[in-house]
Amino acid sequence: MCGIVGAVAQRDVAEILLEGLRRLEYRGYDSAGLAVIQNSELQRIRRVGKVKNLSEGLADQFLSGGTGIAHTRWATHGEPTERNAHPHMSQDRIAVVHNGIIENYRELKTQLTEQGYQFNSDTDTEVLTHLIHQLLDSGLDLLAAVQKAAQTVTGAYGTAIIDKQNPDQMVVARSGSPLVIGLGIGENFVASDQLALLPVTSRFIYLEEGDVARISRKSVEIFDKSGEQVERKVNLVDAKADSADKGEYRHYMMKEIFEQPTCVRQTLEERVSTSGIETGIFGNGFEEVIPQINHVTIVACGTSYHAGMVAKYWFEQYAGVSCSIEIASEFRYRKFYVHNGSLFVSISQSGETADTLAALKLAKEQGYLSSLTICNVMGSSLVRESDFHFMTRAGTEIGVASTKAFTTQLVSLLLLVLTIGKHKGLNAETELNIASALMQLPGKIENALLANDEIEALAEEFADKHHALFLGRGEQYPIAMEGALKLKEISYIHAEAYAAGELKHGPIALIDAEMPVIVVAPNNELLEKLHSNVEEVRARGSVLYVFADKDAKFESDETQKVISVVPTEDIIAPIVYTIPLQLLSYHVAVIKGTDVDQPRNLAKSVTVE
Ligand code: G6P
Repeated sequence: MCGIVGAVAQRDVAEILLEGLRRLEYRGYDSAGLAVIQNSELQRIRRVGKVKNLSEGLADQFLSGGTGIAHTRWATHGEPTERNAHPHMSQDRIAVVHNGIIENYRELKTQLTEQGYQFNSDTDTEVLTHLIHQLLDSGLDLLAAVQKAAQTVTGAYGTAIIDKQNPDQMVVARSGSPLVIGLGIGENFVASDQLALLPVTSRFIYLEEGDVARISRKSVEIFDKSGEQVERKVNLVDAKADSADKGEYRHYMMKEIFEQPTCVRQTLEERVSTSGIETGIFGNGFEEVIPQINHVTIVACGTSYHAGMVAKYWFEQYAGVSCSIEIASEFRYRKFYVHNGSLFVSISQSGETADTLAALKLAKEQGYLSSLTICNVMGSSLVRESDFHFMTRAGTEIGVASTKAFTTQLVSLLLLVLTIGKHKGLNAETELNIASALMQLPGKIENALLANDEIEALAEEFADKHHALFLGRGEQYPIAMEGALKLKEISYIHAEAYAAGELKHGPIALIDAEMPVIVVAPNNELLEKLHSNVEEVRARGSVLYVFADKDAKFESDETQKVISVVPTEDIIAPIVYTIPLQLLSYHVAVIKGTDVDQPRNLAKSVTVE
């Protein structure tokens, strides 16, 4: 949700900030802006729309200066207009960029208005801007003013502030929204994600909750929430982690779909082999917790929630423990029953989703046995807040619609099922079968990707459709849901998924020739039931698109197109069948000409409620 970049350097920083914003655009992209201190004056440029518009603006109005901040926005308070775009300024003295929400902005706005401050936007950020200005006016220095402001505002945020009267420094604060400081040589940076800064440095400090930092060219001073100066660890990040390059692909999403065999291999590496699951892969002490686990509660949002839904089937079938799965925004606001010996599992590609984080914090207060997060971003809030974490190792995912993060989440969950199952009576033969199926998974995904051209051709048939229905049974039901979500997210076609057996209880009324129905049909014990469901649809005139194992006895004809999927062991079938559905949404979106990597109204990391 919103991306922040800042720099204090001797050289002009506008281009560095702009490149940082391009790399952060996945966090939001309805407006963007940049401010630098040029000859002791603040110069600002803001544009509605993507960073590209800001970059065009900068071509006409070059801003020179070594201290600057920039922002790409996903609107929360105030519509996406230029006046609401960041940076916000107070009386031409300070400029502020901010990510997150200031909850008590109304009362602060009233107070500041009474003190004569004029508001030029509808944002909560402007309240923070004037508040810091007022504290500076009261005689505090920039650091003290930001520290005081941080104590006054409530809510989750990350912010960076520059002051034309202190042109060689920038002050930043983190409260609930990530911020990372990038250390250069004679120059220093800040961003809401290290990805933004990989072109300029590989040394990073992750700020902790409540930290405020004063950054100059030659120094970084960090103060914790009690105001004590603290040292934070410097992390070296491998520049190869920089995947912000599309390479030969037209879109990040396509690149990320095709990276899946490699990502899955990485997720499996040193964690499982044909002789079974390795011990200790969920961290020191986790195996000691397992004997006490009687129940697993999974909480997540969006695509990660679908991964959790699949895992519920696996836990109850193989690990001998009951499992419940819930959407984080629901879980956090209801009274829930904590089963004795419940492990709390959060799943999140970003590790920053506000609802999932709040659910975890709540669970920690409510007597859960222990907490584990499955996540793709090391050092993220969920990773830090959980007792245990397990990294999916998918590499940075830039496309807003999640692909490789999802399949590696599924792989990670299967490793968790094996790890817990081993202590709960999973027999050695089943463990070896699952381990060997997992070892074959990268190859199966490679095989599934071979259907790309066939699916591209098929996608033409969807381009003029307004609705689509996805059907699956068992653990393929969540895969159908994920397929429908992908299609909605990037092609804007209204798509719904149903458990195939539920079709006759209502949704069948929707079926006619204009409603394509996509069926996920591996060759498993539910196949015969699925055949009956498919016939119910055929009898009502819809065109069916069946993704099926070649042994599943589906034949192509005028009303039914069968797309053959490599024969796959049941256990990994949900992962393999995800691939053609990702390809289908991608190609439909490309044909429709939507913005595949940055679909309208979405953001990759949702750090607000
Ligand atoms: C946003 C993204 C989705 C993602 C969801 C949960 O809505 O657009 O792709 O599935 O957040 O994100 P998380 O980082 O917690 O997996």
